This record gives sequence, structure tokens and C-alpha cells, in this order.
Amino acid sequence: MADVAKKVSSERLLLILPEALEAIHEVIRKHRVTDEEWLAVLDFLTEVGKQDEFVLLSDVTKTSVLVDSITHEDESGVTPSDVEGPLYREDPPWREKPVKIYEEYEGVENGDVLFVHGKVTSTDGAPISGAVLDIWQTGPDGGYDIWDERQPDYNFRGRFGVYEDGSYEFQTMVPKPYTVPTDGPVGRMLEATGQHPWRPAHIHFKVEAEGHEPLITQVFFPDDPYLDNDTIGAVKSALVRPLTRHESEEELTQRGLDVPFYTCEFDITLEPAISAAPA
Ligand code: BEZ
Ligand code: FE
Repeated sequence: MADVAKKVSSERLLLILPEALEAIHEVIRKHRVTDEEWLAVLDFLTEVGKQDEFVLLSDVTKTSVLVDSITHEDESGVTPSDVEGPLYREDPPWREKPVKIYEEYEGVENGDVLFVHGKVTSTDGAPISGAVLDIWQTGPDGGYDIWDERQPDYNFRGRFGVYEDGSYEFQTMVPKPYTVPTDGPVGRMLEATGQHPWRPAHIHFKVEAEGHEPLITQVFFPDDPYLDNDTIGAVKSALVRPLTRHESEEELTQRGLDVPFYTCEFDITLEPAISAAPA
């Protein structure tokens, strides 16, 4: 509770907590919840805490998406925010230009090379030359580095700066849909309630720049079977970006590749920092 009190003012806590408890009591009264049932709920929540799955629980109950949308509801003319999820890792490697966020490993050849590019600008259209991008995603199969023993540590993760004109490009591989972790209490809850655990393929972005609000978002791709039923409900149409396939000899030579590759354009607009905005 001490940590909550540090981030949430006591007025907000005194306003929200009694109403949250009243809502829970109302459900308990309505459904005549028994001693045994309530203890099962407490056991479940204890296990969620022990296995560090509270963020995952917030995500799959679509609570994270709701809170994110309320937090950013007043923003317009900027790239939509999206939830961070539990799979971000602190201190990813710094990647020098030309940026490639993965190393080769056994199995990577089964994926498609993808170059993601775009420009980071402020709401007035000015390029932000000091912006730093932080990317994380799954590989073309086998999921995140932390789940896939074949992958080097921090594979498909990395931070890097943009060019002087605010543009960026990084080489990665087209990610695939994957399931959120299902081996813990949240996975058992999903199974018990008949909710599938799949997320559409996506790439996570954190973008930071001096004088601007930080942005956390995700990019999705058209025709994904889970676009309309992401288990965390995080898909926004403005974040679905087409993939373009390139296979001409000229394009392959230019990229130094001998297999077709894809590109995806994702321009990013950041909001000037609240404290930097004119009064
Ligand atoms: C993810 O996209 O990394 C993620 C989001 C929510 C739950 C689990 C994973
Ligand atoms: Fe993810």
C-alpha cells in the first residue's frame, strides 16, 4: 500500500477504493458467493502475485487497455498509445546504424526479413532528431527471446536513435501471432473461462525524446487472424500498417539479400511535454 500511496494521491485513493470495494461486495451479494468460493479467489490472486502475473491478469481482462485509453483520451494528432504488456525488458542493447535488432540463430531462416521505417515528428510536423526508439517483438517462430532457447539473449530487442531528419529504419523479421503465457494461474483462468490466449503479430515501440511525452505503442499487420479478437483487446485500426513485399533483383541487390523481403512504414508523432506546452 505504501508504494500505491506514493503514486496515487490519498484523495484519489479515498475516492476510488471504497467504490471498488462496494462494486465487489455488490457482486458477492448478488451471486451469494460462498466462503469456499471466496477463498478460491484469494488463492488464485495469491498465486498470480507469487508468479508475477498481475500485469498479465490486467492485460487479459482488458483492464490495461481501458486504463491506457482513459490516460490518453485527450490526445489528438499524435500516434495512438497502446499497452506495454509484461514482456518488456529493461536495458536492451544499443543498436548502431544501420540498425538490425536480431542475430542469426538456428530457425531464423524460416522467417521473412522486414525493414520497418518512418519518421518521428512533433505535432507541428517538425522532425525530432533526438528521438530514441526502443523495440521489442517475437521472432518469426518460438516467441520472445526469454522463451526460446535458440535465440541469443535480447534478440529482437534494441534501442537506437533516429537520423538527423527524424527518420529511422531497422531490420527485423516479420513476427507471427503467439499466445500469452499459459503455464501459470492466468493461463488456467483463460482455459476455465474459455478465452483463447492468442495475440495478433505485433511489434512494440517505446519512443522518447526531450521536450515530448514518451509514447508506448504497438504496430499490427493486416489480415492477421487475431486482429479482431486479440486476447488483450489492444488492436487499434490506426496502428495496423501494411506490409509491402519486394522481390525484384534490383531491390534484393540494393539490400544485399538473396530472398524476398518486406517493408513497413510507421510514422510517429509525439506530443510536446505537458510542462513544455505554452501556458
Ligand atoms: C505482449 O504483447 O507482449 C503481451 C501483452 C499482454 C500480455 C502478454 C504479452
Ligand atoms: Fe508482445
